[in-house]
Amino acid sequence: MGIVSSPDPVRPATAAAQALGFVDPQTGAIVPPVHPATTYERGADNQLLAGRLYSRADNPGYDLPEALLTRLEGGAASAVFSSGMSAATSVLMALRPGDHVLVPNVIYWAFRSWLVGWATDWGLRVESVDMTDPARVAAAVQPGRTKLIWIETPANPTLVVTDIAAMAEVAHRAGALLAVDSTFATPVHTQPIALGADLVMHSATKYLNGHSDVIAGSLTTRAVDDHWQRIKAVRVQSGNVLGPFEAWLLLRGMRTLFVRVAAQSRSAARIAGHFEKHPRVEEVLYPGLAAFRGHAVAARQMRGGFGGMVSLRVKGGAPGALAFSGKLRVWKRATSLGGVESLVEHRASVEGPQSPTPPDLLRMSVGLEDTEDLIQDIEQALR
Ligand SMILES: Cc1ncc(COP(=O)(O)O)c(C=O)c1O
Repeated sequence: MGIVSSPDPVRPATAAAQALGFVDPQTGAIVPPVHPATTYERGADNQLLAGRLYSRADNPGYDLPEALLTRLEGGAASAVFSSGMSAATSVLMALRPGDHVLVPNVIYWAFRSWLVGWATDWGLRVESVDMTDPARVAAAVQPGRTKLIWIETPANPTLVVTDIAAMAEVAHRAGALLAVDSTFATPVHTQPIALGADLVMHSATKYLNGHSDVIAGSLTTRAVDDHWQRIKAVRVQSGNVLGPFEAWLLLRGMRTLFVRVAAQSRSAARIAGHFEKHPRVEEVLYPGLAAFRGHAVAARQMRGGFGGMVSLRVKGGAPGALAFSGKLRVWKRATSLGGVESLVEHRASVEGPQSPTPPDLLRMSVGLEDTEDLIQDIEQALR
């Protein structure tokens, strides 16, 4: 991994900006190299020269992003994956047929499709439940059978907030693990492991990388236990590996995570507050708004802001929402989120006829543009 020279302990933003203080021991370079090699040499004694075998097992370029994630999440170990989906599905693939899994009824759409389709076909018993009510989740737990509770907070795309500490209690009482998709919260605002979670997942495609130019995922674990070893084996054996250039770009993006997310959260909070009472807006969904249903829980478990994602419900149903988004000039109509450019998406169109997302909802990922430009653009599109 090179020399890690930051005095310890430094604050998380310092650890991120300095990539844990990396300095290349051979060259003195303060940026790590890319490691494109797929294979590693053995000596005459047939022993691996540096302990590495093949790049499907791991790549030296994973070491720093994984170590930094472990540091930022306060976990025991991390693993990067070829996408957020491959990180999430690896958690489920490490379970065994017949295991019961509780998932929220508001969850990233593609993951729901995988859970309902593939996971169920392969023998996992997946049940969705309203995770905003810990009593309901406790009632849905099947003692001895429930092995995993999966939550996503704030959730995509309605920003539903789930109480991580309460869910950890329910999970642990049942002998189950709690996994948290913390993509929207980022390690800047929430550290699920400190609140009791066992696993933290990110679509690193979003805020961790932050520049809309890498598909990646990550998991961080509280403990290097049997389930974690199985997850690592899934990555190696299924080949859900991140490319070396993508790993390098991911670390480069993570170095600016704290300034980006802080600015995006500030801007999102201003936009949410500005349009909350707008006559053409039905509802603004943002965990930072006092009137938002999950605000109290969000205020307890999110530090320093409420994230850069806002959903607007525009008057006039789906036609009103689509007409509004069609008039936007600064915001880009595109899927995904967490990049430096502001993106807007009509989620119900993407999710299809079975979508539970309100048809008048536009998911808005606030970028790093001048907030006034973003506000004015929404204003003119609402006229
Ligand atoms: C909350 C959330 N989790 C997981 C994913 C999946 O991540 P990826 O697209 O990197 O596979 C996404 C993607 O949009 C997401 O928004």
